[in-house]
Amino acid sequence: MKRIAVYPGSFDPVTYGHVDIVRRATALFDHVIIAVTTNQGKPSTFPIDERLTMLRQALRGLPRVTVEAFEGLLVHYLQARKARIVIRGLRAISDFEYEFQMALMNRHMAPQVETVFLMPDERYTYLSSSLVKEIARLGGVVAAFVPRSVSPYLTRLKNP
Ligand code: COA
Repeated sequence: MKRIAVYPGSFDPVTYGHVDIVRRATALFDHVIIAVTTNQGKPSTFPIDERLTMLRQALRGLPRVTVEAFEGLLVHYLQARKARIVIRGLRAISDFEYEFQMALMNRHMAPQVETVFLMPDERYTYLSSSLVKEIARLGGVVAAFVPRSVSPYLTRLKNP
């Protein structure tokens, strides 16, 4: 049976930290689906079609990876994709409480679902999409944090 893993998130926008997690996941699973949604508690900066485009460009060339949007509960999406594995990145202890809560809530709703936590390279443990956007808005250089194709989208955010 094919081992399909789903890596959900808002990816607003994708950073090198996300790409690092996807690479690690492709080494472990037969197929990795990057599932993009809007976090209910966090309005997004980039519309979903732009987030999908940025991800597809950033992950071009990685084998057995697809990028899709979804709405609604993650567990319902997993069911529709016949997947049982959720990938999440753990950057620091501060991520743990929120991730633990989500993993157990998903398990409560769908006991067959397992969440697998992967650690990004330590270079990316302090990275977040919000920080990158803040740096871009204030005219800082973001080339070290995001794939080249993402930079033009961030440049648009720059304060006049
Ligand atoms: N490298 C760099 N940054 C990373 C990272 C990594 N490896 N992993 C996470 N991050 C950052 C993200 O950039 C994001 O930064 P931001 O807050 O500045 O935007 C932050 O960590 C949160 O990560 P993200 O992957 O975007 O998670 P999220 O909190 O937006 O995603 C969902 C949460 C979408 C998975 C969750 O809300 C969900 O499952 N929604 C569907 C509805 C549902 O089922 N709800 C019930 C859940 S129990």
